[in-house]
Amino acid sequence: MMKLWGGRFTKTTDQLALEFQASISFDQKLVIEDIIGSIVHVEMLGASEILTVKETQTIKEGLKTLLERAKTGELAFSVEHEDIHMNIEKMLIDLIGPVGGKLHTGRSRNDQSALDVHLFARRKTVELVGQLVMLSNALLQQADNHIDTLLPGYTHLQRAQPVRFAHHLLAYAGMLERDMGRLIDSYKRTDMCPLGAGAIAGTTFPIDRHYVKDRLHFANLYENSMDAVSDRDYIVELVSACSLIMVHLTRLAEELILWSSEEFQYVELDDAYCTGSSMMPQKKNPDIPELVRGKSGRVFGGLMGLLTMLKALPLSFNKDMQEDKEALFDAVETTENCLILMSAVIDTMVVKKEKMLQNIQQSYSNATDLADYLASKGIPFREAHEITGKTVLYAISEQKYLLQLTLDEYQQFSPIVQEDIYMFLAEEQVVEARKSEGGTAREQVQVQLSRRKQYIDHTNQWLQSVQEAQELTRLV
Ligand code: ARG
Repeated sequence: MMKLWGGRFTKTTDQLALEFQASISFDQKLVIEDIIGSIVHVEMLGASEILTVKETQTIKEGLKTLLERAKTGELAFSVEHEDIHMNIEKMLIDLIGPVGGKLHTGRSRNDQSALDVHLFARRKTVELVGQLVMLSNALLQQADNHIDTLLPGYTHLQRAQPVRFAHHLLAYAGMLERDMGRLIDSYKRTDMCPLGAGAIAGTTFPIDRHYVKDRLHFANLYENSMDAVSDRDYIVELVSACSLIMVHLTRLAEELILWSSEEFQYVELDDAYCTGSSMMPQKKNPDIPELVRGKSGRVFGGLMGLLTMLKALPLSFNKDMQEDKEALFDAVETTENCLILMSAVIDTMVVKKEKMLQNIQQSYSNATDLADYLASKGIPFREAHEITGKTVLYAISEQKYLLQLTLDEYQQFSPIVQEDIYMFLAEEQVVEARKSEGGTAREQVQVQLSRRKQYIDHTNQWLQSVQEAQELTRLV
């Protein structure tokens, strides 16, 4: 088969080498981006009078036919043509004849490939923000429902201090808010048009880079052609944002796995997101959170792969950079699936508030409040801590919790303790007493809830503002 770059060659490519260097098996994912980039490129060639009106029309019509076929999955790609760019160009020439060969005027696969990935990364950034909104909404809804549900808060996975379940969920909403912020920030560096850089140094044709930038709704142009074809920072940023999202999802997943175990029994996950065991009839396994936890590895791996691939690469394009795509595609797809499924898991989980409350009551998680009680009566906190420690040790030996001790028992450790201690140590009071900013008291949790909702509104406005750039196929 005739190669698009065959002129300089006298021998054919070794079959294994050909397959090894081809990217079509994965970069066909960019088919829509590639064709749309080409349509805008050829429009620009026409508008700049580099091609005639007739040539421009013919090529554009040919590309539109290919776009329709791409949408219905009719295009058959071949490894002989290496990558998506040459597959499409070859199909165009087959469809409209030699004039199709004018499409690549003033362009290289280096800036073309960079353009396709920018378009893809830009679209995926927006989709990810949308999915983060979805998961945040699921968390905020459960937080709304469970503002008065109390559970033990843990440090070192030991019962520490009781908190509102809403407070616990809102901590995750805070993480997701930072995730959205990172994506909205890196979007600015993704929203840059590399086309017109040529292979490395620009082109001898009088192209109009602003035409392409504006038609594709890019905010900016790369100002240096070598930077344009060498930059993969925006991919690293996107996969890095995905990695942190995955870190957050694994922490949430781990809690769901623990909470749904018989040891905790804090939540029941919906049957739709669990599976059974082929041998043990009693089992209901939390597969989705487990897989979210497990799949984080491939996203982190993608990030390591990208950083390693880029390290010490000389300018400008090197074939190594073709390795950017699989890492990006896999990281983004994995993160999207995890976000979508976790939203559903959170939406449908049933919260068992009685078990949570029971675990508060059968714990010493009000011990800090005894120490605070003594400190508020003038005992230095360090001493109050010591007295409380001794009281707890005694209570353990008596197999009692703090609320079960008699006043006499308390007074053995400090005569300052009075009858009002029972009110101070009751779980509702323990939670309500933490009115400090960002604390778990009801009013503070309400403030957080409304702030997180405000941020979602603000993010939805951002999503609205970038919508036009999302609808690529409507642009042409
Ligand atoms: N297929 C390459 C990529 O995915 C683009 C081709 C650039 N290759 C070249 N020989 N100039 O990045």
